Amino acid sequence: MSDDALRRAQRALEEGISTDFSQAMSYGAYLDLDTLLSAQHPRSEPPQHDELLFIIQHQVAELWLKLLLHELRSARALIAEDELAQGLKRLARVKHVQKQLVEQWDVLATLTPSEYAQIRPFLATSSGFQSHQYRSVEFLLGNKNADMVRVFEHDPPQRELLDRLLHEPTLYDEFLRFLARRGYAVPAAVLERDVTLPYRLDEGLVTVFAAVYAAPSEHWGVYETCEEFVDIEDLFQQWRFRHLQVVTRTIGRKSGTGGSSGVDFLRRALDLTFFPELYEVRVRVE
Ligand code: HEM
Repeated sequence: MSDDALRRAQRALEEGISTDFSQAMSYGAYLDLDTLLSAQHPRSEPPQHDELLFIIQHQVAELWLKLLLHELRSARALIAEDELAQGLKRLARVKHVQKQLVEQWDVLATLTPSEYAQIRPFLATSSGFQSHQYRSVEFLLGNKNADMVRVFEHDPPQRELLDRLLHEPTLYDEFLRFLARRGYAVPAAVLERDVTLPYRLDEGLVTVFAAVYAAPSEHWGVYETCEEFVDIEDLFQQWRFRHLQVVTRTIGRKSGTGGSSGVDFLRRALDLTFFPELYEVRVRVE
């Protein structure tokens, strides 16, 4: 090959590009890639080709959940400090992460029932139902359920983390407290609610939001935040629905590895709502 042909066929490294990392920080070192890439331990015997997909799909979801928690906690803290605009910036990122989590289902949907059946015995009793990060996101958003904490009795640090979140206000609780500080007539029952319980609809709060939705330009920041919350719930439901669809095509009406009835149990989660007033207010919009 002539020099000229080689130049066109291959991108030459520029002079400034680092190649010696014996004393300098490398990509792999910064990201601790050795740890990350050695954390996949297929258990099937004989080894099943599709188990790596199954493991990586879950691990990637857990990484995104870690970021979601980081952003949601920060959004909650910012709103508690009356920094609504900064909180909204966090929520914008939350939505993009949720979209990744929804899109990701397409990869696992390539797993056929027979391929999953080869792996299933090796999963034993493990199930995404035992994901403490997923449960933490639900708690932060308002789907509190003290019974879920019991699932983590075997792991005291995780149990402790989840129990702490159970006793903390949710993102929505902090937003409603913010509204009260801004002079909105948020009912006392809402502000003083037992935050360990799942959030329940309050008619008085629907009236507060009805005024916001009747005159958006006068309440722009509040209105915008309400719609961000609806986007987040919408995306959360999309995740639940895609999970349900993938489970349906993979195991049909079989029970789950975590011991539930399977799709029937998962379908019931679609009736749960984080921000009931923000849906109820739509009935009142004219
Ligand atoms: C073929 C793949 C999958 C199947 C067949 C499946 C099946 C199930 C089933 C049957 C349940 C109900 C609990 C049980 O009895 O186990 C469940 C719950 C759950 N799974 Fe999956 N799953 C799959 C993939 C995933 C992935 C990739 C994630 C990502 C983290 C995930 C996260 C969850 C979560 C968070 C729950 C709890 C949902 C709730 O409480 O409503 N699953 N799964």
